Amino acid sequence: MSRLLVTGGAGFIGANFVHHWLRQHPSDRVVVLDALTYAGNPENLATLQGSASLRFVQGDIGDTPRIEALLREESIDTIVHFAAESHVDRSIHGPDAFIATNVVGTHGLLKAARQVWLQEGLAPAHRFHHVSTDEVYGSLGPDDPGFSEATQYQPNSPYSASKAASDHLVRAYHHTYGLAVTTSNCSNNYGPFHFPEKLIPLMIVNILHGRPLPVYGDGRNVRDWLHVSDHCRGIELVLGQGRPGEVYNIGGGAECENIALVKLLCRVADEAFAEDPQLRARYPQSPAAAGNAASLITHVKDRAGHDRRYAIDCGKIERELGYRAQVKLEAGIRDTFAWYVANPGWWQRVMDGSYRNWLATNYGR
Ligand code: NAD
Ligand code: DAU
Repeated sequence: MSRLLVTGGAGFIGANFVHHWLRQHPSDRVVVLDALTYAGNPENLATLQGSASLRFVQGDIGDTPRIEALLREESIDTIVHFAAESHVDRSIHGPDAFIATNVVGTHGLLKAARQVWLQEGLAPAHRFHHVSTDEVYGSLGPDDPGFSEATQYQPNSPYSASKAASDHLVRAYHHTYGLAVTTSNCSNNYGPFHFPEKLIPLMIVNILHGRPLPVYGDGRNVRDWLHVSDHCRGIELVLGQGRPGEVYNIGGGAECENIALVKLLCRVADEAFAEDPQLRARYPQSPAAAGNAASLITHVKDRAGHDRRYAIDCGKIERELGYRAQVKLEAGIRDTFAWYVANPGWWQRVMDGSYRNWLATNYGR
C-alpha cells in the first residue's frame, strides 16, 4: 500500500489523476494538498467525498513546515507534484506568481521531502514525482524530430522558464542529496475538468454560447494532444517502474494545427446539435444549431513569443515502461465535447466574475 501526497489535486490533471489512482489502487491513501487558486476546484473531487482513502488539505506547496508535518502525520512515501501556475497567457501578463509557485514553491516542497524522508529517515523507500511540460524544450521547426529527453532546454515564456527552473531543482535534489525523484514532461492535455481558459474547453464553451472563437495569429501552431487519461496512465507507469533520477516524455501522438483542431471541434458540435433537439433548445444562440459553428472562428492578435510547434518523442517510455497512448484525437474530442455538454453547472461556476474580469482586462473580450 502506498501513501501519496498529490499537490494540485484539485486542478485539471491532478483531479483526473486522483480519480484514476483511487480507481486503480483503492486501498492506497491519497492526501491532496491544494492552495485553491482560481484554477483549483474542490468540486473536481466531489464524487470522492466521504471516501476514507482521500483527505483534502488546503495549503501552499511553499509552506515547508506544514508539508513536513503532513509527511510525518500521514506517513507519506510518494509525492506526485502537479501544483503550478499553468497558463502561458497569464504568465505573459503576470510572471511573478509563476516564479513564486513553480520555482520557489517547488523548492519548498523539495526541502520538506529532503528533511522528512532523508534527514529524519522516515521513508527509506520514497518517490518524488515531478509533473512538467514539453514547453521547456522550446519550439520546433516543421520537420524537426519530436522532443526527446535529451533535447536541450530552451524555454520561451515565463511559464516554461519557471517550469524549466523547477525541473533543474528536482534534478539537483537527486544528484546532490539522493532524493529519489522522477520527472515527466508531457504535451498538451485535454479532457474533463479542463479550465475554460485553455484552447479546447474555451472553444467548446464559446461554441455553445455563440461567442467568437479566438484563434491566435494564423492558427498554424501545432500542439501534440494528449488525453488526460493517457497522461495519468503514463505517470502511473513511471511511479511503478520508472528509474529514480530519470526523465520520461509523455505524448499523445496526435499533432494538430490549432485551426484544424478548432474546425474539428466545430464539426463535432454541428453533428451533436443535429442529432440532439434538446441541445438546439438549450443553446439556440449557437450557430451550431444551424450546422455552422465554424462561422464563429475569428483570427485575433498572436500570443507574444508564441511557440510554433511542439511534438513529443515517446520512445523511451514506450520501450522501457510499455506506455501507449490509447485515446485517438477525434474520439477524445467527441468525449470531451460531450462532457462539457453534460456538465454545464461545472463550467458556469468556474467561469465566475474574476475569470471574466481577467479576460476583459487583458483581451477586451
Ligand atoms: P491547473 O492550473 O488546472 O491546476 C493547478 C492546480 O495547482 C490548481 O488546483 C491550483 O489551485 C494548484 N496550485 C497552484 N498554486 C499552488 C500552490 N502554491 N500550492 C498548492 N497548490 C497550488 O493545472 P493543470 O493543467 O492541471 O497542470 C498540472 C501540472 O501539469 C502543472 O505542473 C503543469 O505545469 C503541468 N502540465 C500541464 C499540461 C496541460 O496541458 N494542462 C501539460 C504539461 C504539463
Ligand atoms: O505543452 C504543454 C502545455 O500545454 C502546458 O505546459 C501548459 O500548462 C498548458 O496550458 C498548455 O499550454 P499551451 O499554451 O499550448 O495551451 P493553450 O490551451 O493555452 O493553447 C493551445 C494553443 O492554442 C496555443 O498554440 C495557443 C492557441 N490558443 C489558445 C487560446 C487560449 C488560441 O489560438 N486561442 C486561444 O484563445
